[in-house]
Amino acid sequence: MKIVTIILAAGKGTRMKSNLPKVLHKVCGKSMLEHVIETAKNAGSSREVVIIGSGAEEVKKNISGVEFALQAEQLGTGHAVKMAKDKLADVDGTVMILCGDTPLITSDLLKNFIDSHNKSKAAATVLTAIMPDATGYGRIVRNQSGTVDKIVEHKDANEDELQIHEVNAGIYCFDKKILFDALDKVTNDNAQGEYYLTDVLEIIHNQGLVINAMISNDFTQILGINSRQQLALAERILRQRKNFELMDSGVTILDPDSTFIDSNVEIGRDTIIYPFTFIEGNIKIGENCSIGPFVHIRPGSKIGDKVKIGNFVEVKNSNIGEGTKLPHLQYIGDSDVGSNVNIGCGTVTCNYDGKNKFRTTIGNNVFVGCNTNLVAPVNVGDNVYIAAGSTINQDIPKDNLAIARARQVNKSNWKDKRD
Ligand code: UD1
Ligand code: CA
Repeated sequence: MKIVTIILAAGKGTRMKSNLPKVLHKVCGKSMLEHVIETAKNAGSSREVVIIGSGAEEVKKNISGVEFALQAEQLGTGHAVKMAKDKLADVDGTVMILCGDTPLITSDLLKNFIDSHNKSKAAATVLTAIMPDATGYGRIVRNQSGTVDKIVEHKDANEDELQIHEVNAGIYCFDKKILFDALDKVTNDNAQGEYYLTDVLEIIHNQGLVINAMISNDFTQILGINSRQQLALAERILRQRKNFELMDSGVTILDPDSTFIDSNVEIGRDTIIYPFTFIEGNIKIGENCSIGPFVHIRPGSKIGDKVKIGNFVEVKNSNIGEGTKLPHLQYIGDSDVGSNVNIGCGTVTCNYDGKNKFRTTIGNNVFVGCNTNLVAPVNVGDNVYIAAGSTINQDIPKDNLAIARARQVNKSNWKDKRD
């Protein structure tokens, strides 16, 4: 069933101590907000209204495929949700609410959550988890029949409530009409002087309606990111998740703790990844490749099957053809490299003249000698040989040998003359 989603992303993110809006901070190469939007869509959301406020223009610039509603003043999460009311005037039934600072939530969990809400016919369902350290989270206060009475924010909780480890994920499904009617009754009479979204639960409960809570058995999925330490934790969890996913699909990762692969990277089976490797962006890597230690593959790159990338190699915005070898110490930027090419140690594509970037094109079956500079824009034809130490600044026709270095001079008996 299709569902409409409100995503809260207007907060200041005070605890990040940053000039960048909190939800634009990246985890595994993608902003927290992008993770949440993508997950919502994958879980069946057909429409997302993102509430923006702090750094609104910057958020708008970086995010696409959603609608925006402005919360000019950040008066709390309840006030933020209200900003979506006009946009959703034509919507009936269920509305899901997500926070832009919970990037670890998966679409499988969200799908189960939506199902659970729809099946229960409750007025509201809140997603919860048992959090080992519940500091900062809203606590779930249940009644004897097991349904939810209210949520108490950490700063407003009494001694007993602080002992509760079941916390609010900040993820909810509501009947839309019940939600917006209740929001009109929320006040800001609390420790933070804010209009809390969490207060609508008690209001709904007091109307005699049922609120369900679905407990996720994986608390890591609901971690809210408020500080840089929590951001690093999220990064770690997401990277591990990605590495395990790749390993399950047939990729060997020697040491997942020291391998950094962005969430949108695709890697074919039987490829081996060595430690201290960074693979960033929407990268595709083929099957049976070997990606050596200290390799950095940057956005815009596509690596074919059976490619060998050795130690200390950087590849940026480049296509590398099947069976090509980049064994050690290369910089390959803005390049299209054919298949079965061997690029010698220390080779550099000189892609930048200080103002603009240019491409290097290398055909198939090319042998590039060690320590070659390829000054772009430049085309190297099929089956070319380049002598070691060459600085190539002219195109090389196919089947040629190019030597572009000063001829060596040997001075005989130099030792005697010098002395
Ligand atoms: C909130 C919940 C808390 C829950 C936790 C889960 C409330 C009152 N508290 O607390 O129960 O355990 O999330 O992570 O809802 N935002 C706005 N406008 C505002 C204020 C916030 O859009 O005026 C957005 C923020 O950008 C953020 C989200 O709402 O994405 C949550 O706000 P935040 O201040 O992080 O709430 P928490 O204190 O973490
Ligand atoms: Ca938060």
